[in-house]
Amino acid sequence: MELKKGYFITFEGADGCGKTTQIKLINQWLNENSIDTVLTLEPGDTELGKSLRQILLHYDKPVANTAEAFLYLADRAQHVKYLIQPALKDKKVILCDRYTDSTVAYQGYGRGEDTERINYLNNIATEGLEPDLTLVFDVKSETAQKRVGKDKDRLESEGMDFHKKVRQGYLELAKKYPHRIKVIDANRGIEEVFSSTKEAIGELLNL
Ligand code: TYD
Repeated sequence: MELKKGYFITFEGADGCGKTTQIKLINQWLNENSIDTVLTLEPGDTELGKSLRQILLHYDKPVANTAEAFLYLADRAQHVKYLIQPALKDKKVILCDRYTDSTVAYQGYGRGEDTERINYLNNIATEGLEPDLTLVFDVKSETAQKRVGKDKDRLESEGMDFHKKVRQGYLELAKKYPHRIKVIDANRGIEEVFSSTKEAIGELLNL
């Protein structure tokens, strides 16, 4: 089915919030409804991005907060130009696992970098491209950390305090941009969360 325009939907939340499961279920549901989707993620869904992802998640020496932010932003700039914008032009529904709000939540609220400065830099990296809809999967930090398990990457290895700040950051973002961001209670089971996710996306796409 050809849509009149493309849609850009982002999935956000702390590590272990379950958004990756939901994005896959939504992708399948949209495809069953004959809607063409592009499933993508940050960091690392372009060729350049793959190298950046390797550094971001596995570099084992100290990384300056600003360097970390710039690496995510570099990945985003490449992603927007070579993958997201072309898919929007093609009138696809883009389902993107993490985007600008991750940098505000993790590098801003989590690491304590200035959020206004991150907004400014995000705007440069994306050339102002904002999602049509952002779903924040909100879950208690203790539950989220249990879901992550033992095999943790560089960001996941941060302490509980960091993860709590990230969660709080997302909730504040949702308050600040209610026209774009919807919070989904992800403390529930997969099916219940999926039903709320479907409702939000169905409303946007008139399904
Ligand atoms: P990934 O394995 O893709 O985790 P997830 O499935 O939770 O998305 O790792 C991405 C990690 O990078 C995750 O811990 C969040 C972090 N991140 C930032 O800190 N800032 C950002 O701008 C982005 C996009 C991700």
